[in-house]
Amino acid sequence: MRFACGIRRLVVLAIVALHAPAYAAEGSRASVASPGGVLSVSVSVNGEGRPEYTIARNGRPLIEESRLGFILADAPKLERNFQIESQATRSSDDTWEQPWGERRFIRNHFNELKVRLTEKTTLKRSIDVVFRVYDDGVGFRYEFPDQASLKRVAIVDELTEFAVVDPATAWWIPAGEWNRYEYLYNTTALESIGQAHTPVTIRTKEGLHIAFHEAALVDYAAMWLRRVSGQRLKANLSPSSSGPKVVRSAPFNTPWRTLQIGDNASALLMSDLILNLNEPNKLGDVSWVKPFKYVGIWWGMHLGTQTWEAGPNHGATTANTKRMIDFAAKNGFRGVLVEGWNKGWEGDWFANGETFSFTEPYPDFDIEALAAYAKKKGVRLIGHHETSANIAHYEAQLEAGLDLYQRLGIDSVKTGYVADAGGVKAKAADGTIRFEWHDGQVMSRHHLKVVTEAAKRRITVNAHEPIKDTGLRRTYPNWVAREGARGMEYNAWGSPPNPPEHEPILVYTRMLAGPMDFTPGVLSLVGKGGLPIQSTAAKQLAQYVVLYSPIQMAADLPENYARYPQPFQFIKDVPTDWAQTRGVNGEIGDFATVARKDRNSDDWYLGSVTDENARTLTVKLDFLDAGRRYRAQIYRDGEGADWRTNPHAIAIETRDVTRDDTVTLPLAAGGGAAIRFAAGKR
Ligand code: NOJ
Ligand code: CA
Repeated sequence: MRFACGIRRLVVLAIVALHAPAYAAEGSRASVASPGGVLSVSVSVNGEGRPEYTIARNGRPLIEESRLGFILADAPKLERNFQIESQATRSSDDTWEQPWGERRFIRNHFNELKVRLTEKTTLKRSIDVVFRVYDDGVGFRYEFPDQASLKRVAIVDELTEFAVVDPATAWWIPAGEWNRYEYLYNTTALESIGQAHTPVTIRTKEGLHIAFHEAALVDYAAMWLRRVSGQRLKANLSPSSSGPKVVRSAPFNTPWRTLQIGDNASALLMSDLILNLNEPNKLGDVSWVKPFKYVGIWWGMHLGTQTWEAGPNHGATTANTKRMIDFAAKNGFRGVLVEGWNKGWEGDWFANGETFSFTEPYPDFDIEALAAYAKKKGVRLIGHHETSANIAHYEAQLEAGLDLYQRLGIDSVKTGYVADAGGVKAKAADGTIRFEWHDGQVMSRHHLKVVTEAAKRRITVNAHEPIKDTGLRRTYPNWVAREGARGMEYNAWGSPPNPPEHEPILVYTRMLAGPMDFTPGVLSLVGKGGLPIQSTAAKQLAQYVVLYSPIQMAADLPENYARYPQPFQFIKDVPTDWAQTRGVNGEIGDFATVARKDRNSDDWYLGSVTDENARTLTVKLDFLDAGRRYRAQIYRDGEGADWRTNPHAIAIETRDVTRDDTVTLPLAAGGGAAIRFAAGKR
């Protein structure tokens, strides 16, 4: 029933109109509403000339007066004595096609307000604030125009605030602490946030959902959110060893500060705000970027039964890799990740980034023969560059490392930046090694350097311990995935491992940023030393649908898949590229159900995950295509299933359905359900 997608159809409908400034009194206030009138934004300067903005939804205040501006290192602050010099609005409505993604076509429909703020003082410096207002969210950024009085911009502090009106609950992880993004999520009152990474998602007492994040983080420091008082959050840019957090030359634009806003949790999944605010594809033909599933020499190291470094338990041997290639070929996986193939893992590799070679394999790993063997079998090796966050050392070898992969036909690389937050080693302009943060301006540049060098060689990139995702996959479609949250590895050795609520939180927080290489599918359900994974078997299958990535690992050992051939069938069947995505139901931290339509067939898939509470969900199948019959292959928690006592109990049944039917999903504690809806003949 699968068919190759031959001719690519691009439907573009564009209506772009430019209006003259149309609104409130020049000099003090400017405003704009979203195309459907749901959201409205107002920008003003107060009595001291301090710029601020507000957001209302259906006429009700949502974000009250919140500041805009900057403190600079070597010039007076851009903070008060401003007036609105001019304002302009524009509307835009077009639809663009993703090369791969959660949905094929994306509508970009917004009204824009551009406000020029100019100082009334003798300096007369100007900054533009641009708001794009959608019915499901708002993005705004600062644009620094070319001007004689502000050439070099050294930002010490960005003053952007988000003052939420209604009391709310927040789901968040800390920023500026020892780890990067790999924390368990906090569920607290909004007014108990300390300092958080974005996306931060909140639910107001009225049930409104807002996710705060940013889009197009390019050559700038990531925005952390620090609570300054009550429900007022303020941007705090990730630090830099050079003093100012960002140094740029005007003209330039900051990343977009974003708020995705919906009536329920599922609405957040339907918002394409982040991608829409990114620049279109800059790489030209990207037909070489292939979504895929993969296996690898990986889980054994996390279980402690194999090692990255050479020795008696070396994972990346020629013989082990051959077996893994055979397993991939037999089961239809395109990729074979091999970690520990290269010299330099001896000793404390967390600390020893300078020992890695990105061109020399260990003697027991015949990279040339294995790359050729894989190709013969229709499989590709996946490259691995663990850098231990020593980017000074890595950048010196980057091109040679990627050249090697290109020559061998290795067309994807997993990078890694293991080190504590603030522990990135980078070479400064004066040649000294400086310590940086994983999400500072230096790293935003580094990642794009890797991605663009990889693109020149038609290689895709999956970064672990990355900078957070801000939708740059639209501009650089070879940046296929990243980590940036606690993934499956924590179920091997985490103390504690991921709790059952982890996935139903990730769906509405981290996943709003973009694809995550979570590495699902551990059907053995045990970590290191038999540590129980807090999941049922059916929930492992559901992860492939609810946690989106165009590359998905089948993370368990081949011998474990041999023990569970029936659930393994779902892992073999599930695609990783989608024509459509629907948030079906969900509550943050409780449960999440997502339906997606395969991009290369007419099949639909559904995944549902719950937290530590068992619950029964009734799902209307009205997302299915009209006039089609489907054979539903249902993988659900079996009788008596419970992650603690009976995690392997799974019931697999088939039923014929149409969009007029409903299915009842009994989810166990720590459980889930996965369904393939195989489309019947027309
Ligand atoms: C951390 C990554 O998340 C993991 O997948 C990898 O195996 C190790 N670093 C070693 O690079
Ligand atoms: Ca990691």
